[in-house]
This record gives sequence, C-alpha cells and structure tokens, in this order.
Amino acid sequence: MSPGQPLPLSLEDPAPLLRWLDGTGPEPERLEFLALARNWVHTAIAKTRRIRPEVDEAWGRMLQLARDIATPEHQETRSALLQHLMADGRLTVDDLAHKWIDQLVSDITQVESVSRTLAERLVPQEELEDTRHTIRYVLVELLRNTVQHSLDPRGGLVSADLSVFEGNRQMVQVTVADAGIGIPESLRTLHPSAANPRVALERALWPHISGTFEEGLTGTAQNAGMGLFFIAEMAKLTGGTLLIATRGATLVLTGSSDGISAPTLRFIDPQGTGYPGTLVVFELPVGSVVDYPELIETIKDRAKARTPQRATHRWLRFDPAPAAAAAFEIRSRAEDTAKATALARDELVPRIVRREPVLLDFAGLDIVTQSYLHSLLYEPLRLAWALRTPIYVTNVAPAVRSTLDLLENYALAG
Ligand SMILES: Nc1ncnc2c1ncn2[C@@H]1O[C@H](COP(=O)(O)OP(=O)(O)O)[C@@H](O)[C@H]1O
Ligand SMILES: [Mg+2]
Repeated sequence: MSPGQPLPLSLEDPAPLLRWLDGTGPEPERLEFLALARNWVHTAIAKTRRIRPEVDEAWGRMLQLARDIATPEHQETRSALLQHLMADGRLTVDDLAHKWIDQLVSDITQVESVSRTLAERLVPQEELEDTRHTIRYVLVELLRNTVQHSLDPRGGLVSADLSVFEGNRQMVQVTVADAGIGIPESLRTLHPSAANPRVALERALWPHISGTFEEGLTGTAQNAGMGLFFIAEMAKLTGGTLLIATRGATLVLTGSSDGISAPTLRFIDPQGTGYPGTLVVFELPVGSVVDYPELIETIKDRAKARTPQRATHRWLRFDPAPAAAAAFEIRSRAEDTAKATALARDELVPRIVRREPVLLDFAGLDIVTQSYLHSLLYEPLRLAWALRTPIYVTNVAPAVRSTLDLLENYALAG
C-alpha cells in the first residue's frame, strides 16, 4: 500500500476493516498500519479476537510488527508509515500519545464510574464541561446497552482517544464493542416488521424502539428505547459522527457542523457488511457542545414531537414538598439502574400506593441519562398518575428537568 491509497482505518470508509472482521473480506495488507490507527480500530479487532482465530493470530503479528518498528533496523518503514499517515491529513504524531487503555465492562454497576472516569480523563478542562457531559452520557448509554442487550458474557469493551487534526481541530472519539447477538437479533422477536438488518438498525435509532417491548408502547419498567435516539441526535446536533456496525448492517450518521446542512445517514456497502457483535463509535469535535442543558432540551423536544401525547396533569411536582414527605437522595445511586429499580419497587411504589408524598433530591447531579430516570420513575409515575398522588422533586439541574419532563410526557402516553 503506497501513500495516497486509502487505509482501512477511517470512519468514512470502514468497510475493509469490518469485512475482514466479519469474515467476508481479506486481511488488511499492511498490518503494521493498524498499530497506528485510532482506538476504534483496535477495539473492534480486540473484541473479535476470541471468536475469530485468524483475527487473533493477525493481532499477534500486528503487535510484533509494531514492536519491531520501534527498533533502529526498521527506521525506514517507520518513517514511511508516519509520512503516509500525515500525508493523509488524518493523523499527526501527537495522536500516538493520546491513547487510552481498553477496559471491559460486564456489570451494570461499573457503567457509571467507568464512563465518568473516561470522560474526565479525555476532557479534563473545566471550560469544556459541556463536551465532557456529552461524552459521559454517550458512554453510559452504550455500556448499558452491551450489558443489557448484547448477551456477550464478557460485556463491552470501551476505549477512547483524542486526536489533533490539521488546524488544531481536536476530535474526541469513544468506542464500545461487544461480541454479542447484534441489534437485529435483539429486536427480532418483538419487531417482526424489522427483519432486514438495515431496517432493524435504523429503527433502533427511533425513540421508543426497544427489543424489550412492542412498537406503539413507550416503555417497560427497565427500558424506554431512547438510548440510541439520544446518541444519534447528539451526533446530528454537534457535527459529530456515529458509526454502528452490527450483525448484518452498518450505518454512519454524520451531523452538520454548520448547523445549516442536513445530517446524513448512510449504510455501508456491500449489503450485509457488519460486525460480529455490535460496534459503536461516537466522535465529536471538542468544544462543539457549548451548552449541554440546551442540547438535552432540544433532543427532548424532538423526542416529544415523535411521541403520542396524553399527559395533561402533572404528577411530578417541582414546588416544595409537604414536610411529611419521605425524602430520597439520588446522587449516591446515580446511573445504577439496578439501584434505581430497587428504590422504585421497595420505597416509592409502596408509598404512592398508600398515597403518601415522596421527595426525590437530585442535588449534585448535572447529568442524568434518560434511561436511568426511566428505571427510577417510569412505574412510580404511572402509578402516581393513576392514584392522583404527586411525586416531588428538588434540586433539579436544567438538563435533568428536561429529561424529567420528557419522561412524564411519554410515561403516561403508551
Ligand atoms: N449492544 C447491543 N447488542 C444487542 N442489541 C442492542 C445493543 N444495543 C442496542 N440494542 C438493541 O437496540 C434497542 C434500542 O436500544 P436503546 O435505544 O438504547 O433502547 P433500550 O436500551 O432502552 O431498549 C435495544 O432495546 C436492543 O434491542
Ligand atoms: Mg439502551
């Protein structure tokens, strides 16, 4: 492969890598090039090793080549390689210093801390807090999906990197990969009309589409079907890129950075190009999110516009609770959906049934994912509505309030 020819490692042209990994295409010609690729390539390969012996063997050779290339005898190859990458305008030598170790997440209780730590390490600057919140939100939803839906017993592999492109434009990229059943299979039973993998994959991005309930409903106690919807809208609104490769189909969604041109969604050819599991890459220009609460508010409005409406009464109350209300703080349970479901079942529901007021305190939480609030409040809210008993909330940050509004809206709709 000579300079000028495309490398099998760009998000715009992921087919060569994906086709190798899903067993429909040849091994990449120059494996040592892969050693210098961005993290998503490594994560995609690493997660495939266990299930494809030939990939495992190639990975070993790749690591050896990467080690050899650091030795004086390979000086020439090394400079040719770097030249190639830089000529391509994609990577600078700086990139190589910005890699983070992959981490496996197989347990729902790890999701929050891994996401927070990774987001903080990637974007530590205080003035980039809104970018950091966005990254953390995406990681929580993606990791939760691998734990809940992939059926991969080893869970999801997560990685992140930061790259400096020409003109000092920084891109942050996060990747989550599993070797599980894939999105089409997960949706198959309850969504028979989405039998084609491309149709299933696109539909997974719609609000309220989930493998856990039928179309037309807005949720179960556990799921709202909103995780991928939020992530896709985030990519659209920030000029980011979202790649989802799963068994039988791959899509790339690119947002518009100028805020004028429309986002584009395309499937990767040839038909059937996928991934032996589910691979999701989310890339964002650093600093493109300047107002995280507003981003969430906009996505909430878009979701609302696509959800049947019924709520007229408001049973979530933002005004002061009666003194007798039993109070629960949420921060210590943040993003742990198992704890949220337990709190709902053991504390909130019994009190609402007895028509006693409850108060949820969101102090210290700037970011709460839609799917977490869903596990906490979907059932209590439906019950509160049926029994005409308000649920009080306090210390609610703006982005959390938008998400609560959205939840109340659809919880009573389907
Ligand atoms: N990693 C994955 N492996 C298998 N299926 C997945 C994966 N991620 C998402 N899905 C499928 O896509 C659906 C939509 O995901 P999402 O929008 O996050 O909603 P939810 O998780 O609430 O169901 C899931 O219900 C599941 O059927
Ligand atoms: Mg989800």
